[in-house]
Amino acid sequence: MTHVLHRHIGQSYPVAGSGHGIFIRDNAGKDYIDASGGAAVSCLGHSHPDVLAAMHAQLDRLAYAHTSFFTTEAAEELADDLVSHAPAGIDHAFFVSGGSEAIEAALKLARQYFIERGESQRRTIVARRQSYHGITLGALAIGGRPFQRAPFEPLLIQTHHVSPVYEYRERRADETSQAYGERLARELEDKISALGGGNVIAFVAETVVGATLGAAPAVPGYFQRVREICDRHGILLILDEVMCGMGRTGTLHACEQEGISPDIIAIAKGLGGGYAPIGAVLMQNKIFAAIADGSGAFQHSHTFMGHPLACAAALAVQRVIRRDNLLANVRTQGAYLARRLNERFGNHPFVGDVRGRGLFQAVELVADRGTKQPFDPALKIGARVKSEAMARGLMVYPMGGTADGTRGDHVLLAPPFIVDAPALDTIVERLGEAIEAATTVCTEN
Ligand SMILES: Cc1ncc(COP(=O)(O)O)c(C=O)c1O
Repeated sequence: MTHVLHRHIGQSYPVAGSGHGIFIRDNAGKDYIDASGGAAVSCLGHSHPDVLAAMHAQLDRLAYAHTSFFTTEAAEELADDLVSHAPAGIDHAFFVSGGSEAIEAALKLARQYFIERGESQRRTIVARRQSYHGITLGALAIGGRPFQRAPFEPLLIQTHHVSPVYEYRERRADETSQAYGERLARELEDKISALGGGNVIAFVAETVVGATLGAAPAVPGYFQRVREICDRHGILLILDEVMCGMGRTGTLHACEQEGISPDIIAIAKGLGGGYAPIGAVLMQNKIFAAIADGSGAFQHSHTFMGHPLACAAALAVQRVIRRDNLLANVRTQGAYLARRLNERFGNHPFVGDVRGRGLFQAVELVADRGTKQPFDPALKIGARVKSEAMARGLMVYPMGGTADGTRGDHVLLAPPFIVDAPALDTIVERLGEAIEAATTVCTEN
């Protein structure tokens, strides 16, 4: 009997014993291809020798020093590294221990920025439906998943939501992608006008939506219009790249492909690649300067922020990605994965859409390909796919609520950046078998 409060009480989990490259091996000796990087975390795969060496070296020198007493070389070098490869104007980094913490910090940073500027009337955040920004109260409040918010609704700050970019279901048949993006931009503009542009702190969006919509990218021009609208009203644009950032889509920051620079970027998962818990908030100089020239301190801190071991791990991960030119591999293998998924599922009766960018790809599962009718949520198709995949030695990341927050299912793939074509062939083959097995329940009658 376990004393761990696991995610699902009563479910038994295999014990992860070791990891190497794209594989995790359980204590029974079974290998699993980590085709989802856990939850889009393990960008370098497991037990990368260079990352382990950097962590050992840091550990031998110093494991921890509280940031109210010291800075460390690891934190300074990581900040230099991130800033020198960040979108235009970003010049400071604030280190935390994960994605939710990064989002909490981003929200408070944005609010404090306006207080420093004498605009304390700005108190509202606008975000999008079917988004996930984390599980802490602030992150949950801006997130757009009804079933996760509902029990905690009385504790959440008030936020407002607009439509996500979800071309597969929400672009009208008579609309071009550009016209669809323009319609969404107008919806945002209308929402901001209704709230009063001078009352809004920030608009928060995942550049490519991960867990909730399944690797759903924006349509061309959407983020440029969003940037214009935010600028016109003096509102900060916060991009949540916790899942889609740090190379996952083929560029270090997903927003590079949108041709915009946000005011704040939240990153985590792939920053440290799972070697240590770490997240960060990257900010434009104007935000740093407002605080530096104002109160002089960001009113936000954690005991473990800037943890030296986590910073050393992240620095090593980022250096290996650059040294080994792995973003080129993300683009090449990402294109290959997209092609293989389309070949395998392009006409599959229970797959409505294949989408994504780089090594961030998803298939959306439907009960009827023609009508896009989702599966009955009671069938728990996602959970079935996951367990069928695990039985076949494959880790994938399914999620429900895709279509409208309650119904709909997708399966997310986010393999390590070191993956090659033969491994991707095996991933697609096993995923195909898992989907066939999981959906037999729907073809039996
Ligand atoms: C886009 C996005 N933001 C924030 C988070 C929260 O990150 P964490 O689970 O590290 O708190 C996640 C986690 O999946 C995420 O996908």
